[in-house]
Amino acid sequence: MIKQAPNELGLHPLLQKRWSARSFEQKHIPNDKLQIMFQAAAWSSSCMNEQPWRFVYGAHGSATHELIASVLMPGNALWAKEAPLLMAVFAKKQFDDGSDNMHAWHDVGAACTSLLLQGVAFGIYGHQMGGFDREKAKQVFTYADEYDIVSIIALGFLGEADALKEPFRTREVTPRTRKEPASFAFESFEEIT
Ligand SMILES: Cc1cc2nc3c(=O)[nH]c(=O)nc-3n(C[C@H](O)[C@H](O)[C@H](O)COP(=O)(O)O)c2cc1C
Repeated sequence: MIKQAPNELGLHPLLQKRWSARSFEQKHIPNDKLQIMFQAAAWSSSCMNEQPWRFVYGAHGSATHELIASVLMPGNALWAKEAPLLMAVFAKKQFDDGSDNMHAWHDVGAACTSLLLQGVAFGIYGHQMGGFDREKAKQVFTYADEYDIVSIIALGFLGEADALKEPFRTREVTPRTRKEPASFAFESFEEIT
């Protein structure tokens, strides 16, 4: 199933189609497609062109996949451990000159969006997650202190909602909702609420 945004909004088809799926086909993501998704991330903008994003990924059945799945909160692990690919996303906290990069997480988020949209062009859908045990991740992933772990992403080709257990099946078919732009986009600073 595809839970696309309403047609009448006039969105670009990639933006319209992207959503956070939980049910994936048991089909590996071809490496050539994955590498193009990383190119999409590479070609997003970043402060000083620092490109502070780092990705560590593993296909289902790999030790990396198992390790990433092991740090997910139970409510995510239940469905995400079946995903064809799991990816841990990191931000490099300092610029190459050693000064703090306060834009690192911002730029990593932007790169993730590009990666996900390129995925949609291939029929590959991603689900970003902040629901994981950061302390455990720091221990079991053994990465250097110069990085923050930002998120975990589950990726795969869309599967059937019926393959999920409740409550995830219901969540998979529940329509997506959004705030109206008038509630977050203003022409004067006083209007911000
Ligand atoms: C940083 C971030 C963290 C998220 N964490 C979780 C999570 O832990 N579990 C989950 O099911 N979804 C998580 N999501 C997905 C959001 O719930 C989802 O993007 C939002 O409900 C909008 O739905 P859509 O992506 O289908 O448009 C996260 C998304 C982002 C960007």
